[in-house]
Order: sequence, then structure tokens, then C-alpha cells
Amino acid sequence: MEQTLELLSSQTKKKRSSPTTGATGLEALKRGARRITVDDKAMINCRADLNQLVPFKYQWAWQKYLDACANHWMPQEINMSADIALWKNPNGLTEDERTIVKRNLGFFSTADSLVANNLVLAVYRHITNPECRQYLLRQAFEEALHTHAYQYCIESLSLDEAETFNMYREVPSVADKASWALEFTQSLGDRRFKTGTVENDQRLLRDLIAFYVVFEGIFFYVGFTQILSMGRRNKMVGVSEQFQYILRDESMHLNFGIDAINQIKLENPHLWTEDFQARILKIIREGVELEIAYARDTMPHGILGMNAALFEDYLQGIANRRLIQIGLAAYYPPKDNPFPWMSEIMDLKKEKNFFETRVTEYQTGGTLNWE
Ligand SMILES: [Fe+2]
Ligand SMILES: [Fe+2]
Repeated sequence: MEQTLELLSSQTKKKRSSPTTGATGLEALKRGARRITVDDKAMINCRADLNQLVPFKYQWAWQKYLDACANHWMPQEINMSADIALWKNPNGLTEDERTIVKRNLGFFSTADSLVANNLVLAVYRHITNPECRQYLLRQAFEEALHTHAYQYCIESLSLDEAETFNMYREVPSVADKASWALEFTQSLGDRRFKTGTVENDQRLLRDLIAFYVVFEGIFFYVGFTQILSMGRRNKMVGVSEQFQYILRDESMHLNFGIDAINQIKLENPHLWTEDFQARILKIIREGVELEIAYARDTMPHGILGMNAALFEDYLQGIANRRLIQIGLAAYYPPKDNPFPWMSEIMDLKKEKNFFETRVTEYQTGGTLNWE
């Protein structure tokens, strides 16, 4: 098996050695060219026409696109009136609870824009097959919905908009996570950056891991757990419900990212060197440290049965799972999951229950008149 992969990779390396490596989908049409087959398709450095969705090669990507569309939701469908009353009531929440709500809206209101910009301006160009691009387009829209949802919460609660949207430049634990991630999108976003060399293909793979596995797969979890924990105690139920829908989308983004990373590895085994694996482990460990610092900063006194030490266990457990998912060994000692209820919320099989609380039914094409 390894020999076959190596053979394939040396063949593809040969095929990809041209200086014009990589298609964008905007090349001039070549009339009468040979028809596309699945063997022409590749995750990166593909030379085939990128405007033809079929024949499908990456069924998993297409299936995720379909699943994501089936889970469509809009932030305005969620009733925020109980949250507004609770937030206005001077005795409704403790100062620590208010800090959690404000800090998380501060982090997430800009974090999802950062993810969207990374997808549209950096990642999309370098993932060279239409099935994955179809999912990336859907994911980009979902990130827009997430930013919309946070803005909707901020507006509903009449929070100070300038303070909230500037937290990623003013609050150290929020700024640290955002600036850590920015480093992993800048080179891909550079118009002169091209895949097609081992070094640049590794950079793309590294940056996909930084965004999908660390940013969306680790950096969101303290905030999600804190807000959902409030919702479970009947506090800020509207904000919590927004976060529930977002978490469900995010767990699919993460799964898509992991499938994409593993598929790139399979097609390009020469990228996955010992040295590269060590660099990836270091990146994931940095991510865990930054998220632990965020947990300490957002809950200095512990709250709602949660504290920074429990989050350390939780994040290390999550990081172990992420490492295994991309084919590395677990790094942290095994611990019990302090928040087992989180996995239940993420379980996609529970999607029917999710929608029971919706205030309106979603109507496709509701504004069109066919008469
Ligand atoms: Fe998002
Ligand atoms: Fe996402």
C-alpha cells in the first residue's frame, strides 16, 4: 500500500512540476478537450477543469454540503426577549456571568469574520476540486450567519458595539488567539503564494490544520461551553440557542477540515514527514495553552460549576481527540471529560430536537410568488 502511494505521489509530483501548477477555474476554455474523469481530480495542485462538479470523486465533501444545507437556520428566528429582560434586570445576572457573555460575544464577533476571510481569500484558491469548493462556499455563508448571529445578540442586549468589536485588539486573551491565527492565513492569502512545491504544500496543510483543528476545533470550545452552560441553567437562553446552532455548524466544519486534511495526506504522503508532524504537534499545544489562558481570563473566580482547571482537562481531552483524528498520537494524559453534556449537544443525530425550539418554521423560497 505504501509503495503504491509513493509511486502515485512520485507520478503526481512529476505531473505537477510545471511552473504553472494549479488551476483556479478561471482559465480560458479549451474547446473540444478530453472529458474529465475522477482520476483527473485532486485535492491540491489539480490541473483539471474546476467548473465541473461531476463526476464526483470526493463524495464525503458533497454529502457534507447536502447535510449543511439541510440544517439551514437564521439568527432572527430565535426569540431573544427573555435574554433582553434578564440582561436589563440589575439583579438578573452576576458580574462574572456578564463578563462571560461580553467576552464571548467580543471574541466570536470578530473570530467568525476571520474564519470567513481565511476561507474566501486564502484557502478556497488552493483547494482544487469542485466538491470541496462547493462545501467551502456553504461554509463561508455559514460563517457570515455566525457573525450575523453575534451581531444580533449584541444589538438585542444593547451592548457597547465599539467595546465588543474591538476586544480582539484590546483584551489580551482575545487578541492573543486572533493574532496567533492570523499568522496562519497571511501567506496563503498572498497573491504570489502558489502551491506545487513541498514547502508550500506543507504550508497549506499546516495552515488548514491551524484553522480547522485549532481555531475552529479548540479555540471555540471554552466560549461554547460557558454560554451553553448558562443556557442549561435557564439563563440567556436566546444567546445560548444561537450558540447551539453555531456549534452544530462548527462541528461539521471541523469534520470537513479533518477529512480534507486526511485526503491531502493520502494523496501527498511525502508532505507528512517526522519533522512536519513535530511542527503540527507544537501548533496544537500552543493552541491549547492559549485557550487555557482564555478560560482563566473569562472566569477568574470559577462559575456555574466550571473553572479554569476543569477547562484544562477538557481542552487536553479535545486536543488528544483532534491529534488522533489527523493521524498523530495522543499527547496529553487521559482524563475524564468534565463536560460530557457537550458531546450530546454536538451529536448531529439529535438534530430533530434542536429544531423543536424554533419559533418559526424555515420556508425555502418563502418570498417568491409563482403565480
Ligand atoms: Fe463559525
Ligand atoms: Fe466555522
